[in-house]
Amino acid sequence: MAERLSLITQSPVAMASSLSSAASSRLLSSTSTAAKLSLSSLSSSASSRSFSSSLKCLRTSTLISHHLPNLKRSSVVVRNGGLSTVASPKSAASDPDQLKSAREDIKELLKSTFCHPILVRLGWHDSGTYNKNIEEWPQRGGANGSLRFEVELKHAANAGLVNALKLIQSIKEKYSAVTYADLFQLASATAIEEAGGPKIPMKYGRVDVSGPEQCPEEGRLPDAGPPSPADHLREVFYRMGLNDKDIVALSGAHTLGRSRPERSGWGKPETKYTKDGPGAPGGQSWTAQWLKFDNSYFKDIKERRDEDLLVLPTDAVLFEDPSFKVYAEKYAEDQELFFKDYAEAHAKLSNLGAKFDPPEGIVIADGPTGATPEKFVAAKYSSGKVRELSETMKQKIRAEYQAVGGSPDKPLQSNYFLNIMIVIAVLAILTSLLGN
Ligand code: HEM
Repeated sequence: MAERLSLITQSPVAMASSLSSAASSRLLSSTSTAAKLSLSSLSSSASSRSFSSSLKCLRTSTLISHHLPNLKRSSVVVRNGGLSTVASPKSAASDPDQLKSAREDIKELLKSTFCHPILVRLGWHDSGTYNKNIEEWPQRGGANGSLRFEVELKHAANAGLVNALKLIQSIKEKYSAVTYADLFQLASATAIEEAGGPKIPMKYGRVDVSGPEQCPEEGRLPDAGPPSPADHLREVFYRMGLNDKDIVALSGAHTLGRSRPERSGWGKPETKYTKDGPGAPGGQSWTAQWLKFDNSYFKDIKERRDEDLLVLPTDAVLFEDPSFKVYAEKYAEDQELFFKDYAEAHAKLSNLGAKFDPPEGIVIADGPTGATPEKFVAAKYSSGKVRELSETMKQKIRAEYQAVGGSPDKPLQSNYFLNIMIVIAVLAILTSLLGN
């Protein structure tokens, strides 16, 4: 029972400070009959700081529980010519088809609630507890879904993330064969991509921890205002096995979202950029367009021309520390480089500490499950740019070659005959014309 978390729907006032109205109606309609834990026990911990305040205002129930019965996992189908290109053994931690469908649902959720930032933060806070010096799983922490348990949600660093869990609750229930660990990372990567960021080379199949006793201890995530920000960032991120370039690139995720004083204690209650939303109004953003993923974070913290934009001590240090500065300067100038390094660092972050089943992970192809195969339009592929064809298209092309006895790997013999026939025909016409 203690590991079950009853999340209670917020009062209208509190809701306005944490979720958009679209999100709130989604939540209000989301109920569960499973056992519930009284909210007071959630907000009782001294360590919960602003988390408890964000929970106090929660009312009826939505359950976040790992005990939701795992519906029988649909068997993994490798579709011939379909879009699920990656086979995975039946024992895989998550079902590839469900992962793909869940991704489509996440896209819809993003469109209606503008929750991109908090989903990114959710994925990062699940994986960022990783300690490379601990070999055993799950003691080493990382992307293992432990953040769904109240004991970890109550860590001060996770203030407000309960709202992210509530947002994806119905998706988790719909796709029970997707683990929490995968869902958190899927939601985060999808949010980055949908906000205009780079495509992240993700893999899935993360195994979930099974109980709250497997959650990491508090204090593994970074502080925003430590006495020596550069040393602190290195201590925390090196412990995760990440390097200076990763630290700077990943900090660029603050191009999205806002800080809210009632959650983290940082930021203004509202600014000209946040007072009207989109989504729930309020908080202080790092960038003016805080739902767009680009390199403006680096430009803005470098220039510091706008008091309405946030610069945490750990942001400021990226242009102060000599090693961090090299990357921060480059990213402020070169968005393409930032996107490339960000995508690599994000993928690394998302894999930290994870136990994959199958061990090599599952890669899900682009596009929704069961989508109509794309039509072959030759012009689309003749732009001169190198473009990887989809499996469907490759199979279609191969089938077309095979139908006339050829193969895409070698030229059709019939082409030679055809050419010879055309030459003979032209010669014959010319001869007859000359003869006349
Ligand atoms: C470098 C150390 C970091 C520190 C000290 C830090 C600190 C913070 C703080 C204080 C907030 C405000 C939370 C709130 O009040 O709701 C925040 C928000 C956020 N952080 Fe970080 N963060 C760090 C790294 C990262 C990384 C690595 C990522 C992702 C890869 C990330 C993504 C975000 C996002 C997207 C938000 C906005 C959340 C929202 O709008 O709800 N942060 N961070």
